[in-house]
Amino acid sequence: MAGILTGKRGIIFGALDERSLAWHVAERCLAEGASLVLTNTDAAIQLGTVADLAAAHNLPLIACDATKIEDIQALFTRAQTHLGGKFDFVLHAVAQSMNLRRHKPYEQAGYSYYQQTLDISALSLHKILSVAMQMDAIAEGGSVVALSYLASERYFYGYNDMADAKAMLESIARQMGALYGRKRGVRVNIVSQSPTPTKAGGSWPEIEFFYRYADHLSPLGNADADDCAGVCVALFSDLMKRVTMQTIYSDGGFGRTILTPELVDDYREKV
Ligand SMILES: NC(=O)c1ccc[n+]([C@@H]2O[C@H](COP(=O)([O-])OP(=O)(O)OC[C@H]3O[C@@H](n4cnc5c(N)ncnc54)[C@H](O)[C@@H]3O)[C@@H](O)[C@H]2O)c1
Repeated sequence: MAGILTGKRGIIFGALDERSLAWHVAERCLAEGASLVLTNTDAAIQLGTVADLAAAHNLPLIACDATKIEDIQALFTRAQTHLGGKFDFVLHAVAQSMNLRRHKPYEQAGYSYYQQTLDISALSLHKILSVAMQMDAIAEGGSVVALSYLASERYFYGYNDMADAKAMLESIARQMGALYGRKRGVRVNIVSQSPTPTKAGGSWPEIEFFYRYADHLSPLGNADADDCAGVCVALFSDLMKRVTMQTIYSDGGFGRTILTPELVDDYREKV
């Protein structure tokens, strides 16, 4: 039976191992009939298990540092050869913060780390879209999705410089969505995902507590990696062909919830 992505061709950035959101998105895209090229950095390909995903589905795996224009150009050229033409969708699931990994408090951020966070986690989307526009690499009506988190718009203790990167990422998605939409009908959207146990998602020291807290506060519970994949696939499909420049929350309702009866009980005596 045909899936909703049958005949569509995509590039997936950011699958490191089987916990990665991008891994789940890739598997869901394949199940819906898409053809794919996988990409990650050389180091991630060596250290992670993305090569196993590529081998299991006979997919091309092309090394690319998403902060380097020449790598992106080479990736797009090779991907078009593998896929047999322009591609229809791109997943940006790329992030890293050395300030977070080294547990540096936000107000004492290392500035070279900070710049690296912004370059890897936000500017890389600008570079990918800018190269795609210059090469006219994405087909008319194509769809680009980048993954973000709610700390882009609300204070979140400990999310550090990644909060700034996510705010920038979401702004880039809106601006490029306007430009690419008019130019080629290409959509650019953000999926803002619940906390999910992955390598990048596990950098914060209090993360185990936060999974439980977010799950507790969300009316539908935390969205898992498969839920995230479902939203991405819907956005890649023609079912959402007039949706662009949006942030779609795959978070079980967390971001719209302030107070629950349980929290009232917990805090009645404390505040
Ligand atoms: N896990 C969560 O809780 C959560 C929640 C919301 C949003 N997100 C976002 O989802 C995306 C994917 O993260 P994840 O949680 O699956 O973790 P992950 O660690 O599996 O994925 C992050 C990926 O970024 C890649 N990367 C780092 N530097 C790169 C570079 N220079 N060029 C190309 N790729 C590079 C890594 O190799 C890795 O594959 C990130 O943008 C993350 O911020 C994660």
